[in-house]
Amino acid sequence: MPDVLILSTSRKFFSTREITKALKKKNASPIYINTPKIRLSVDQKEATLLYKDEKIENAGSVIPRIGRSLTDFAYIVLRQFEALNVPCTLSSKGLIHARNKFMAVQELVNSDIPFPTSWLTKSRMDTGIIKQKMDFPIIIKLLTGTQGIGVMKVESEKNAIPIIDTLTELDQLILIQNYLQNNGEDIRVFVVDGRIIASMKRISPEDDWRANIHAGGTGIEYNLTDEEEEIAIKATEILDTGIAGVDLIQTPEGTKLIEVNVSPGFRGLLKATGINAADSIAEYAIKLAKK
Ligand SMILES: Nc1ncnc2c1ncn2[C@@H]1O[C@H](COP(=O)(O)OP(=O)(O)O)[C@@H](O)[C@H]1O
Ligand SMILES: [Mg+2]
Repeated sequence: MPDVLILSTSRKFFSTREITKALKKKNASPIYINTPKIRLSVDQKEATLLYKDEKIENAGSVIPRIGRSLTDFAYIVLRQFEALNVPCTLSSKGLIHARNKFMAVQELVNSDIPFPTSWLTKSRMDTGIIKQKMDFPIIIKLLTGTQGIGVMKVESEKNAIPIIDTLTELDQLILIQNYLQNNGEDIRVFVVDGRIIASMKRISPEDDWRANIHAGGTGIEYNLTDEEEEIAIKATEILDTGIAGVDLIQTPEGTKLIEVNVSPGFRGLLKATGINAADSIAEYAIKLAKK
């Protein structure tokens, strides 16, 4: 009966509770780890992980559920698990690449995965570039936003410049993308261990164009086309994310990848499809622990 560590910041989160239950049901031993309370040490001989002053030993595998504010710390923690050969459902590289919306698409250059043309800038782009290269509307995004927060649709150059100025002033890196034409819908694909376990369409509320469940979107079960399946699975392979919520948009030119979420929630998915991702997540962690 392997010990499976769940890295999270609250036992009360729906995902933490469901994964804990699913592991118990499958006779594994879930151990809740409050991520910020992990301590690391290295010396010439070894790397050590401590939790509440006790050495973490005998961990069979790890399920990291990492919120945005803990990305940098969790990256180092995952490297420590890797140094200790403890298998994780998410690699340190996967966390860093997928979490950063520009680094994610950088990884996809030269793959055959379609995604919106993306620009990264740290300073006011001269108006010429925007004029020449972008058709309006455009999307301006914070690099590491989630739940639809930090994603803006900008209709004209006149509106874009002050937004870019403001973000620059706030020391934000700015991601600019082509707006992908859609009817306020996107697709969420839940992938575990290279397999699609469920997918849904998310429909934006009447007063918004973002389809995130947290922005008020509604999920309905959706069967993917073969092409969409391939995009989702390939993206998680390239980005090395064992558990992923892949976002796609259907455009008149075909379906394109928007982002890959490494600690995707699954309450909305359960509601829309009746499939509880916790079961597949638990199975995957147990399989890793037995390797
Ligand atoms: N390039 C784009 N074109 C059209 N709509 C987009 C684009 N990028 C994002 N969106 C919309 O905004 C939502 C949130 O964007 P996303 O990049 O997934 O950020 P978040 O991490 O906040 O979910 C998407 O689910 C989609 O509805
Ligand atoms: Mg998203």
